Amino acid sequence: MVQISDLSQYEEQQVTLKGWVATRRTGGKIAFITLRDGSGYVECVIDLQNVSEEEFEAAKRITQESSIILTGMVIKNERQSGGYELQVKKIEVVHIAEEFPLGKKEHGPDFLLNHRHLWLRSKKQWAILRIRNQLKMSIHHFFQDRGFIQTDSPILTGNAAEGTSDLFGTEFYKEGVEAYLSQSGQLYAEATAMAMGKVYTFGPCFRAEKSVTPRHLSEFWMIEPEMAFYDLDMDMDLIEDFIRFIITDVFEKCQTELKALDRDTFLFEHIHKPFPRITYEEAVDIIRGEREVNGKNAITVQEEDLAAVEAKLTVTKAEIEETEVLLKGNMKKGKRNYLQSKVDKLKKELKQLEEDARNIPLWIESSKNFPRGEDFGAPNERVLTRLFDTPVMVYKWPRAIKAFYMKRYPDDPEYIKGVDVLAPEGFGEVVGGSEREDDLEVLLASIRAHNLPEEVFQWYTDLRRYGSVPHSGFGLGFERTVMWITGAKHIRQTIPFPRYYGRLFP
Ligand code: 4AD
Ligand code: MG
Repeated sequence: MVQISDLSQYEEQQVTLKGWVATRRTGGKIAFITLRDGSGYVECVIDLQNVSEEEFEAAKRITQESSIILTGMVIKNERQSGGYELQVKKIEVVHIAEEFPLGKKEHGPDFLLNHRHLWLRSKKQWAILRIRNQLKMSIHHFFQDRGFIQTDSPILTGNAAEGTSDLFGTEFYKEGVEAYLSQSGQLYAEATAMAMGKVYTFGPCFRAEKSVTPRHLSEFWMIEPEMAFYDLDMDMDLIEDFIRFIITDVFEKCQTELKALDRDTFLFEHIHKPFPRITYEEAVDIIRGEREVNGKNAITVQEEDLAAVEAKLTVTKAEIEETEVLLKGNMKKGKRNYLQSKVDKLKKELKQLEEDARNIPLWIESSKNFPRGEDFGAPNERVLTRLFDTPVMVYKWPRAIKAFYMKRYPDDPEYIKGVDVLAPEGFGEVVGGSEREDDLEVLLASIRAHNLPEEVFQWYTDLRRYGSVPHSGFGLGFERTVMWITGAKHIRQTIPFPRYYGRLFP
């Protein structure tokens, strides 16, 4: 069976393709079908001269998403998206699809999510899932090439890794014995690192996030490397190499998919530059507009953004009005369709501009009044990264707002050796990492201070009793990264079947 992605090997040859009808158009004596088979899309031309009358009639009745088998000649055609078209000689219908719920018109997010099992077939979702697949391979490639051992942490656990607030609990056989779905594989990865040296996990994590945001899922995947004898600086060097490698690798291998998503190439053009490393306190200064970055001030930049948005709003509104006046006149069908789709596009842009015009003043306020000592919210991360064109690494965080296992700075114990990596363009935190507390007494004190039950951490503290070593690691949010690379507006589009507050189906 020939795959559409392999058509370049079959130029001027006859092939048989099996797939589904993505779109179709018919004229009097000619019909066009865009066939998709999962590996790609190809335009198929059905000319009455090349097929029987019977087959041509059948082709005209074929509906969107019907499954068919087409045999024909592969012809080079630069104007087609894949560079080839199929001149059909034979059509076999496998199944005529009922009217497809996701037809041409635009649908709201709830409708699409209720039909996720079918929405997956659309070109953008297809492209995102293929990038997800490549990203997974690139991640394994990076670590396997560097002597890391892939290991697995349990999903059912008896202790909380990241604090107790967002746990999914369940009963473990016996009444009163609670188990939790793992929020992170880290603690177990630490134990494995003491056995294997350098390890990484790649598994599902569960967090009961009782709010719906564009960046949170209840079930997501995380990559968690853990390295014995690494301090925070080595950890940050590794994170930087890792992110640069996976972004570059996916960019090289997923050109077709990125084009299908209209992803602009800004990210990929700048990713080779060093990632700035700034402390939490420096980041706060920048967010509050008390410190400049390359001559840019966070507050002024946002005020300029707002002015630009408002100017664009006026222009867009005028353009919509003008086009709508034109549409009232008489014109050919082609011209009307063109103008109508122009209006639709402008209206979509207008909606986004209006949203920005509402949000930016709120962001400016949250920037100016940022309370030193607190964790960053999405608008703060957005502002901070707005001033750079690469990811930004923020390290040396206040101990009070970070997890119990992070190592304190010996000479500045109110701060811990942790790092968050923030992606530009509003995608926000993609990595959280740290050097781990390797001193038994300090760690025990921290467990108590966080009101965590000491007994269940007995095994974890053992790692500090038997050959304790400095060690570090980090967690990369897999869906956050897919979102960033693909430019998806919502994390829900980055996983085949998203789970989040309010959604368990399909
Ligand atoms: O910063 P977090 O909570 O760090 C940890 O879990 C550490 N144990 C990692 C480690 O050092 N081994 O989570 C790490 C990353 C975040 O930066 C974010 O990208 C992602 O996981 N993440 C989520 N992604 C989607 N939905 C959620 N609810 C997420 N929570 C965290
Ligand atoms: Mg974090």
